[in-house]
Amino acid sequence: MEPQISSFYNNEEVEEEELSEPGFSLDETRIKSESSNRFRLLMRTKDHGGITAIVTGEMGSGKTTFLISKLVLPLLERRSEVVLWRGDEFAQWCYVEPERVNLMFVEGPFEYIIADRDVGRFLRPEEAAERFNFHDLQYIVQADEVLKYAKPRLMNVVYCDDDFFVELLESIIRRPTLVWWSLFHDEVQKLAPSNPEGDLWRRNKRLADALADTRKNLVNFYCACHNLSDVDHRIITKMNFKVYLRNAKIPRESMIRNKMLAHMLKLGEAIVEGSVFKLTRFQPLRKHMNLMVTTKTLTLSRNMLRGDDDDEW
Ligand SMILES: Nc1ncnc2c1ncn2[C@@H]1O[C@H](COP(=O)(O)OP(=O)(O)OP(=O)(O)O)[C@@H](O)[C@H]1O
Ligand SMILES: [Mg+2]
Repeated sequence: MEPQISSFYNNEEVEEEELSEPGFSLDETRIKSESSNRFRLLMRTKDHGGITAIVTGEMGSGKTTFLISKLVLPLLERRSEVVLWRGDEFAQWCYVEPERVNLMFVEGPFEYIIADRDVGRFLRPEEAAERFNFHDLQYIVQADEVLKYAKPRLMNVVYCDDDFFVELLESIIRRPTLVWWSLFHDEVQKLAPSNPEGDLWRRNKRLADALADTRKNLVNFYCACHNLSDVDHRIITKMNFKVYLRNAKIPRESMIRNKMLAHMLKLGEAIVEGSVFKLTRFQPLRKHMNLMVTTKTLTLSRNMLRGDDDDEW
């Protein structure tokens, strides 16, 4: 007979977190304030150091929502560490109020274009900043500049390429202060796919080496993917925690013996596996804006081609 989720809750092997609290309510603020300090993924001790975690589950199982509602938002409430989100095309950071978003765009031979899908218009980043009242917006060139502009209390969103991101992680590890940093990378299979070759193999190795140094440098790294086997195993082995959402494939090496357990989860439920595995819940979020961020290759303007400032073309 198929095991039922009720037997899963009662299974003594499963230690419960929020669910076991008497008077547990779905009230969002209560969950935030009660769970934030006890939640293993948000534990901060200098003895243990930084945490690494990967969230996995089928499409639409809530991976992005989990990252933001269970981790980013409580960390912003704590106001004590720097939260950095790798900018993504679908602008998932729009789940955070624009006033708490600090945008950084790494300059390149292209321009950034923001589609405001609520009104069906393209905006330049500065126009978007004015319209939505983001905390701030900077164009940067070097990874070190992120150290200068990123602030605690804000969701610092960095739009960059993969090489820049790895370099950024290395700069954060070697930063001169010991303020905690938390880095978030959704869809990490795009950054570090499995079975890489050549330059990609080398970059994944650099990333894996940097991740190995996060713990003692008080850097937390949280990421998500559909399927653990889509991500370079050198990255997976650096993860202290795995979070399984609905219909996640639980790997053979997991301590969870019942590999069907993730198929019993509902949307909003997750199993967090570290040295033990526990059940936790997360709430849906509302997007404050409906944006999409893309890039467009710059074509040399006719004036630049002519090499003068005469704009009578
Ligand atoms: N706890 C929840 N309760 C109800 N709905 C939720 C919950 N968490 C997420 N959702 C909704 O489920 C949908 C998918 O969520 P989300 O985008 O976070 O999933 P995902 O796993 O990141 O998806 P994808 O595979 O496309 O990246 C969204 O519409 C979201 O609002
Ligand atoms: Mg997602």
